[in-house]
Amino acid sequence: MKLSGILLFLFINTIRSDVMNHYLNDTTIDSKNKYDGFKFPHQYLAPEITLPNVSDLVKYLENLNRTVSYFNRFPNSTDCNIALGAFYTKVLLKRTLKDYKTRIVRHYCEMILDIIRKCENIVSHYVYTNRLYGWQDEEYRLSRLFIDDNAQVYSISAFNKGHLKQWLLTNSDVHDYAEDMDDISLPRLKYLEFVLGFSKFYLEPSDSDFCISSVTYNPEPIHLSTLQLCRPNQYCFELLHSSPSIAYALSHRLLNILIRHQMRRCYLKSVEEDSTHIDLLCAFMYRETVYLARRGFFIRDMFLEHIALCAMRGYEEFHRRNWFNKILSWMDDEGCIQENPNCEYNATSLLIKRNAGDEVMGKKLRRKLRNKLLRECHDHPMALVMIVMAHGIRYAVHYMSEVTLSFGLK
Ligand SMILES: *[C@@H]1O[C@H](CO)[C@@H](O)[C@H](O)[C@H]1NC(C)=O
Ligand SMILES: *[C@@H]1O[C@H](CO)[C@@H](O)[C@H](O)[C@H]1NC(C)=O
Ligand SMILES: *[C@@H]1O[C@H](CO)[C@@H](O)[C@H](O)[C@H]1NC(C)=O
Ligand SMILES: *[C@@H]1O[C@H](CO)[C@@H](O)[C@H](O)[C@H]1NC(C)=O
Ligand SMILES: *[C@@H]1O[C@H](CO)[C@@H](O)[C@H](O)[C@H]1NC(C)=O
Repeated sequence: MKLSGILLFLFINTIRSDVMNHYLNDTTIDSKNKYDGFKFPHQYLAPEITLPNVSDLVKYLENLNRTVSYFNRFPNSTDCNIALGAFYTKVLLKRTLKDYKTRIVRHYCEMILDIIRKCENIVSHYVYTNRLYGWQDEEYRLSRLFIDDNAQVYSISAFNKGHLKQWLLTNSDVHDYAEDMDDISLPRLKYLEFVLGFSKFYLEPSDSDFCISSVTYNPEPIHLSTLQLCRPNQYCFELLHSSPSIAYALSHRLLNILIRHQMRRCYLKSVEEDSTHIDLLCAFMYRETVYLARRGFFIRDMFLEHIALCAMRGYEEFHRRNWFNKILSWMDDEGCIQENPNCEYNATSLLIKRNAGDEVMGKKLRRKLRNKLLRECHDHPMALVMIVMAHGIRYAVHYMSEVTLSFGLK
């Protein structure tokens, strides 16, 4: 029997998944403030001017191929995060080929097709290994969502600019820390507490997993171009519409809504209200992403997760060449990445402090930290980096003319 409540963490950070169930639980967050974003750094309100060029594109492809090949070596160990990562990666690449195939020279088309095939293999192993668990099992229900990807390929949003600006700059309800993120006075350790303190912020991991896996009960869409009302679920509806949140509790709210919209073509309130809600969530996620970038990318996994999810909506603000290239610098020759070691140290010391007096726990946490630091391939950020590289590829190709590409890639 499967321990779905404990083992099933979708896109939960690698820091905590190793120290499962030891949240920080005493941080509270108030969302009653009004703030008009006047401290938000102006250069980030618009997309980056310098676009990825052909050599960038080749690097994204090579690195993505390495990470996908890494996971494809142990397809039977695919967990829900890797499966979702491979699923999103292949749909982004399929969409790229669909929209821009004539721009891509044959050699690179073949490389993209090969990556898609490897992703299909990873996803199908996940579906296969979960096939016998039945409807009462969360991972079984999740795996059913991965069987058909047509709706998801269709639903990836067109590129758009300047959408987030209005949400960042209107006077709206924010939590206590928004202003301090915008002028980077929020201490890194404080933000790290929020990242570890997931459970307090209105969407606990187990709730998020439950609400994601229940999307399967919606029938598969017949007409991809029209959305229908999702099967009502009052519990998830309320969780997903509670007040503004932070870190993983925030990104998971978006993930929940995106999966409904894009995989099953269904909405929660109305298409317009859901769209506005998505813009608002991504504006908050963008604020955090910019904060993380300006503070030295101190939590890689969180940074990657926000980009991986919001970029599905086509916001060009999230598609920054500098960010893609920064991420490349974390990847090794095997396609592996690690969480930032300082982040691991600090997360462990926060957790040890919280468990002060519990010697056994302290020892356990230290041992986990040591093992973690020795391991070069951290699955969770790697699942995310595949998606982010696929976004980079789609974005680079979008802005390239056929001539440039064939010229550069011969
Ligand atoms: C919160 O954490 C403290 C230890 O810091 C623990 O004693 C307490 O039981 C926890 N409360 C909940 C609701 O988990
Ligand atoms: C792409 O940009 C980088 C950095 O600006 C530059 O070094 C490189 O030569 C460019 N490559 C091509 C093919 O234009
Ligand atoms: C993809 O990566 C694998 C593993 O690193 C490598 O063997 C293969 O040659 C790569 N394919 C291309 C087209 O670079
Ligand atoms: C994965 O599991 C299946 C079914 O149990 C088995 O047939 C297959 O050989 C395994 N593949 C690998 C690469 O271990
Ligand atoms: C986080 O960890 C690094 C490396 O261990 C350390 O230099 C830094 O002071 C820590 N940050 C805080 C705020 O404790």
